[in-house]
Amino acid sequence: MASSPFIIVAIDGGAASGKSSTARLLADRFNLLHVDTGSFYRHLTSELLRRGVPHADLPALKSALSGLHLATRLEGRSARMLVDGQPAGDEIRDQRVNEHVSHYAAIPEVRETLLGYQRGQVEVAKQHGFRGLVMEGRDIGSVIFPQADFRFFLHADPVERAKRRAAEGRQDSIAERDRLDSSRKTSPLTCPAGAIDIDSTHRSLDEVFALMAGRVAPALASA
Ligand code: DC
Repeated sequence: MASSPFIIVAIDGGAASGKSSTARLLADRFNLLHVDTGSFYRHLTSELLRRGVPHADLPALKSALSGLHLATRLEGRSARMLVDGQPAGDEIRDQRVNEHVSHYAAIPEVRETLLGYQRGQVEVAKQHGFRGLVMEGRDIGSVIFPQADFRFFLHADPVERAKRRAAEGRQDSIAERDRLDSSRKTSPLTCPAGAIDIDSTHRSLDEVFALMAGRVAPALASA
């Protein structure tokens, strides 16, 4: 009997482009592990701020990063990163973290710290019997999993994205984060060649989900 395929779905895009909502729906529909890598960068940022380690102080940053222990806890279908045994708190969505996260994320040593951990989520997904994983971020289809079975790139008009954040009752530095994330040297936010580019400005969440699910479903149909 053929064994079930294990699939990797990569979703990249700018801030508030709809990645998390669609990734969660895909995870639920196809029994995939949902991995929100933005929450990992946010968690590290929050921890480094708490310790008073500025992003510009490379020796202090390297020393702090080398002592961190990263592990994973599952919450439903979502992978939560534990830093020294601690899950992220609500503060990772606050304005303070919004303002700092892109500065830390631009530093190669910070990205290096998360690289192996992110790829290791494949094993976590397999160990827990998922049929694959859906990972969202900025460099998933370009750097983390360039060979992913499906690579989607979501974009939306900045005005529409600002409205979405406001509807969630959250403040965010969308334009500034996108500017920093797109212009950094290491793993910038970009639509990788061959990725499926989806403009979600005038599409509902259900429509974007349907577009993605229509691509993914046949790959799992035989299982
Ligand atoms: O997905 P998000 O908006 O929560 O991500 C927060 C920040 O983390 C984002 O502005 C840049 C950084 N990030 C990154 O550099 N690479 C990723 N794969 C995911 C997020």
